[in-house]
Parts: sequence; structure tokens; C-alpha cells
Amino acid sequence: MIWFLTLHIITLIFWCASLLYLPALIAGIHSRSIALHEPKNKYGSVARFVFTAIATPAALLAIMSGTVVFLLNRTVEVWLIGKLTLVTLLVVSHTLAGLLLMHTQDRSQKPIAGWCRLLSVVLWCLMGGIIWTVLAKPAAEMLP
Ligand code: HEM
Repeated sequence: MIWFLTLHIITLIFWCASLLYLPALIAGIHSRSIALHEPKNKYGSVARFVFTAIATPAALLAIMSGTVVFLLNRTVEVWLIGKLTLVTLLVVSHTLAGLLLMHTQDRSQKPIAGWCRLLSVVLWCLMGGIIWTVLAKPAAEMLP
């Protein structure tokens, strides 16, 4: 179990770090046409590389290893339901980051810096909420 919990924590750190980096990368691509500085590779941009080669695989590994810990632990407590609700919203935010990234690829002029800032705030709140829930393990009567 300790192997899966360790894998869970290491992969969620990669997932969270790359997710928090993405809005800044996406806003950077859009505000400055920095294609000149971007290494010519199959990903086309550093943001696309972070999204496809780091954030998404890390998300899948964090979710799979967390599920294995859940099954081995047979943890069916209210705090875990609260945590998984927040994790679901984190997965939705991950998808929205992908949509914003696709938006930059079509180089349309509609400014997205505001959406990137909003996404950053939502990501910090969700990650803070998840880590508080899993470390504090609030009892049923403490949850809203
Ligand atoms: C579907 C996704 C996930 C599942 C099924 C899951 C499940 C679990 C389970 C069962 C544990 C063991 C809890 C315990 O008994 O102490 C755990 C630990 C943990 N999880 Fe997750 N988790 C998921 C996603 C995440 C995410 C996205 C984060 C952070 C953003 C996270 C943060 C943590 C932390 C920090 C611990 C260690 C808690 C401790 O050592 O007490 N998990 N997870």
C-alpha cells in the first residue's frame, strides 16, 4: 500500500505543479507571439508539451494510484467523498486548461489572459481544498 500511496503523492505533485504552471504559459503564448523562441518540436509549444507530456499522464497516474489506495484501504468516509468531489472539479479544470490551450493554437485575437487568471485562482482553491480535506479528514458533522 505504501508504494501506491507514495506514487499517488509524487504524481499528484507533478499534476498540481504542471496545472498551476499552464495558465501562465498559455497567457504568455497569447500575449506575446513568442513562436520564434519556441523549440520546433512535435508539441509546437512548451505549454502543449507540459499539458500532453506531463500534466495529463501525471493526472492519470495520480487518479489510478489513489484509486488503488482507496480499494486497498477500503476507506469509505465522508471526507473522501468530499475530496473526490473536489478532485472531479480539478479534472474539469484540467480539461478547461486544454481548451484554453487549443484556443491559443488558433491564434484568434480574443484575449484569454482573464480566463487564465480565473483558472489559476480556481486551481489554487481546489488544490488547497483537496489537501486540507485529505490531511484534516474532517468528520461528517464538520463538512458543510
Ligand atoms: C480520483 C482521485 C483520487 C483518489 C481516489 C484518492 C484517494 C486517496 C486515498 C484513499 C488516500 C489515503 C488516505 C488515507 O487513508 O490517509 C489518499 C491520500 C492522499 N491524497 Fe489522494 N486521491 C485522489 C486524488 C488526489 C489529488 C488530486 C490530490 C491533491 C491535489 C490528493 C492528495 C492526497 C494526499 C496529500 C494524500 C496523503 C494523505 C496522508 O498522507 O494522510 N489526492 N488519496
